[in-house]
Amino acid sequence: SNEIVRQSDFPIPAGVHAETVVSVKHHTDRLFSFRISRPQSFRFRSGEFVMIGLPNAEKPVFRAYSIASPAWDEELEFYSIKVPNGPLTSELQKIVPGDTVLLRQKSTGTLVNDALSPAKRLYMIATGTGIAPFASLVRDPDTYEKFDEIVLTNTCRDVAELAYGDELIAGLRADPLIGELVAGRVHYYPTTTREDGERTGRITTLIESGKLFSDLGVAPFDPASDRVMICGSLDMIRDVKALVEKSGLVEGSNAAPADFVVERAFVG
Ligand code: A2P
Repeated sequence: SNEIVRQSDFPIPAGVHAETVVSVKHHTDRLFSFRISRPQSFRFRSGEFVMIGLPNAEKPVFRAYSIASPAWDEELEFYSIKVPNGPLTSELQKIVPGDTVLLRQKSTGTLVNDALSPAKRLYMIATGTGIAPFASLVRDPDTYEKFDEIVLTNTCRDVAELAYGDELIAGLRADPLIGELVAGRVHYYPTTTREDGERTGRITTLIESGKLFSDLGVAPFDPASDRVMICGSLDMIRDVKALVEKSGLVEGSNAAPADFVVERAFVG
């Protein structure tokens, strides 16, 4: 290929793919997303995560990242926070097209369609970078084969941090391949907590008050019709999980699919 790759002084570790950065987008001071080439042999299920690193040390630092692109995409997309002294993100935030990113070979995770039993409606509840696995799933036709309707909630501190999700949904609706499939079936519900926006409040508050459901015009969580995926901080997961369990939903896994699944969002 003609791609210009900045040479690394370190050998690529065995069993690791060295991939090329295709594009980088800085959304705020704290958030960026990037796309890299995808090895032909790299298979994953939409919603899974993989370990990524940089070729900047003999023993590179790897971190678990949700793959934000769907399984059919020929590139891999990631959405990341920038942690000032983060062992990986302090350097990763500087990547430019043509740079090399390391990718381990195996992906895994519980935020996958296989870990849920079929139902009418799938709620994807995200805070911060927790939207990444849902950016994958919401663009995968398999998700629409399993569920009639998708509700994607995303709660961030301020309006600027909602940009990645806003663009994701706008792009999905305009997509020539799946735009038609998703029409009228995706409900996007962004909220902010530290700045006034279209809607304000933590998703936990909006679930407890019933406002989420009245805004959507649906009944509260019901194991007969609803499935839930949760991705955010440990505190957020604990609090949302308590609410869905109160509604009678049972936690699922790859081995035993059920009503809801949880995973921690990337931290740095
Ligand atoms: P808040 O501003 O009230 O803390 P962060 O950027 O710190 O990861 O937070 C992302 C979003 O998640 C913020 O809007 C934050 O609200 C919200 N959040 C933090 N903790 C919880 C929780 N335990 N339950 C629900 N939402 C939470």
